[in-house]
Amino acid sequence: MTVVLLGACNKKETSQKVALETQKVSIDFRLINNGQPSYSVTYQGKTVIKPSTLGFEFEKQAALYDQFEIVKTSTVSKNEQWEMPWGEQRTVKNKYVETKIELQEKINLKRKLTIVFRAYSDGIGFRYEFPIQDAMGEVFITEEQTEFNLNGDHDVWWGPGDWDIYEHLYSHTKFSKIDATVFRGHPSLGQTHIPFNAVNTPVTMRTADGLHLSFHEAALMNYSGMTLKVDTLNMTMKSVLVGSRNNDYKVAQKVPFNTPWRTIQISETAGDLIKSNLIVNLNEPSKIEDVSWFKPMKYTGIWWEMHLGKSSWDLAAGKHGATTENTKAFIDFSAKNNIGGVLVEGWNTGWEHWIGFEDREGVFDFVTPYPDYDLKEVVRYGKEKGVEIIMHHETSAATETYTKQQDAAYSLMQSLGIHSVKTGYVGKILPKGEYHHGQYMVNHYNNTVEKAAKYQVAINAHEPIKATGLRRTYPNTISREGVRGQEFNAWSSDGGNPPSHLPTVAFTRMLAGPIDYTPGIFDIKFDHYKKDNQVNTTIAQQLALYVVIYSPIQMAADLIENYEGNPALQFIKDVGVDWEQSEVLNGEIGEFVTIAREERNTSNWFVGGITNEVARDVTINFDFLAKDVTYEAVIYKDGNKAHWDENPLDLSIEKMVITKSSTQKIHMAAGGGFAISIIKK
Ligand code: NOJ
Ligand code: CA
Repeated sequence: MTVVLLGACNKKETSQKVALETQKVSIDFRLINNGQPSYSVTYQGKTVIKPSTLGFEFEKQAALYDQFEIVKTSTVSKNEQWEMPWGEQRTVKNKYVETKIELQEKINLKRKLTIVFRAYSDGIGFRYEFPIQDAMGEVFITEEQTEFNLNGDHDVWWGPGDWDIYEHLYSHTKFSKIDATVFRGHPSLGQTHIPFNAVNTPVTMRTADGLHLSFHEAALMNYSGMTLKVDTLNMTMKSVLVGSRNNDYKVAQKVPFNTPWRTIQISETAGDLIKSNLIVNLNEPSKIEDVSWFKPMKYTGIWWEMHLGKSSWDLAAGKHGATTENTKAFIDFSAKNNIGGVLVEGWNTGWEHWIGFEDREGVFDFVTPYPDYDLKEVVRYGKEKGVEIIMHHETSAATETYTKQQDAAYSLMQSLGIHSVKTGYVGKILPKGEYHHGQYMVNHYNNTVEKAAKYQVAINAHEPIKATGLRRTYPNTISREGVRGQEFNAWSSDGGNPPSHLPTVAFTRMLAGPIDYTPGIFDIKFDHYKKDNQVNTTIAQQLALYVVIYSPIQMAADLIENYEGNPALQFIKDVGVDWEQSEVLNGEIGEFVTIAREERNTSNWFVGGITNEVARDVTINFDFLAKDVTYEAVIYKDGNKAHWDENPLDLSIEKMVITKSSTQKIHMAAGGGFAISIIKK
């Protein structure tokens, strides 16, 4: 890696330009016009970002965006490796060049602002640092003015810039055709707010000359989530921070502080976006010494039955799902099938008064079970069978009640040896006026993770803030929703998740981090419960998702009775959840993708492939396998007549012996896929 400092300096200089370069990526920073910060980015000589300006607006101060001079620049390079305690791979390479540019206003208050750029081989990150200074003690940011000036009318896979939820379908349009406002007021969302024609991140693009780009942020702490407002005439995006109806500003901070990193992942192939570790690399090393108390696992749960209407969360409805007896049946099933956990929703009091009520504070209780659920007994029974209960805390977005009860709730969990909890934030945030993605909630989610760690509790948040790689720093952040999950197939009035959904999610939402999608529905049509809803994939694709959609906890989401006796269950029983390494074998955004992952400690491999509504053949080359080893492979693939709608259950299971030199041609049906377990002989 080389660093070129053009006229860069250790003292004040007149030349106002800095460049840093890796083999592929180069960033050019300069002060333009009246000393306004501007950067541009190229990848192998191709322009990715045209000159784009940077700055801030504040509530009680003049904007900070021009009249600067460069006071000092410094450059360091790093080449290190670190280990994920659990993850898509064990070892992560972190190699970058970083240039810090210290700016100061020439006039007025002489305020200081530092901008730090990092160039990786797979993209860039930059952030603002507000250094300690007399001129700024506290800041109230009304807007961050970060521009991303694009070099063309790219293909874009985008979700609307909703301040309150990420559960919209992605759209694929040209940049010039983005219109997020059509997503306003979705009938199946508990809360939604789309104030501008903006997109949420990660947002993924493909340029006319074949580059793949993803825009996101890393290390989002004590700040607001960033949406990107689109200017469809000028092909520019500009940051719009999520606000609050309670303040005129969007972020309040004490100086010194750093903003989150603004990131652009850049690759030649779509698959290399999935392989990029830029987001986790931009986060700080782990602050939690030992997370060995959390073990990646598969889990079942008292969950899908409520979404189907077979049972209810609340006791009063008369068909309560979370009973001691039902939980024991799930424990028995999980123990028999190599599944480590059972999630139980609806176990605690308060479910009579959540969705649809305004006054939700003081309702949910996170330590008091309903009378037909014996918490201690199910935990004891689970331990006897080697299965851990997974706790559930639906907060109904009543954050004050949850914050107050966290110590009691987590210490109850610790006393029972329960190490993970699924949290939920359905509905409008209380206190009123806050949004799920604003600074108030960013702090709530992060404080929750930090507090939980003290009790050896790991968090899987639903209706979360987006993942920004903080799992590196707080590895008890195990998974999250923040996507249109499987549940939409059970009840959404808009037809559920179309076959193109997950082949899109793999290249968009999944770049942010693990997803609790909850795969594994075998009863695809579930006509017995809901005639008008269904899963829009084949059963083979449901199996593939265990490999394709990464999470250290993977649900086998269907009802027990739908698994019993089905030979496809063998794949769920065998598949790993914690990986030594991952390879993306092929893929195009929104169309198809195949991923192979090697399980930690066994050296077994698992492969998953999925396609959208287009049937296609793929050839799998097994050259990722170890040399001189013979494996037994079981291929679960779409049968000849399979089709996501007409014949989703047609599955063919084939066994064969394979080695590193084997290849296989596999047919994927419309909305289909395949899963392969590759076990060492
Ligand atoms: C929404 C979550 O996404 C879902 O998984 C859960 O069952 C309900 N909230 C109830 O907490
Ligand atoms: Ca949800």
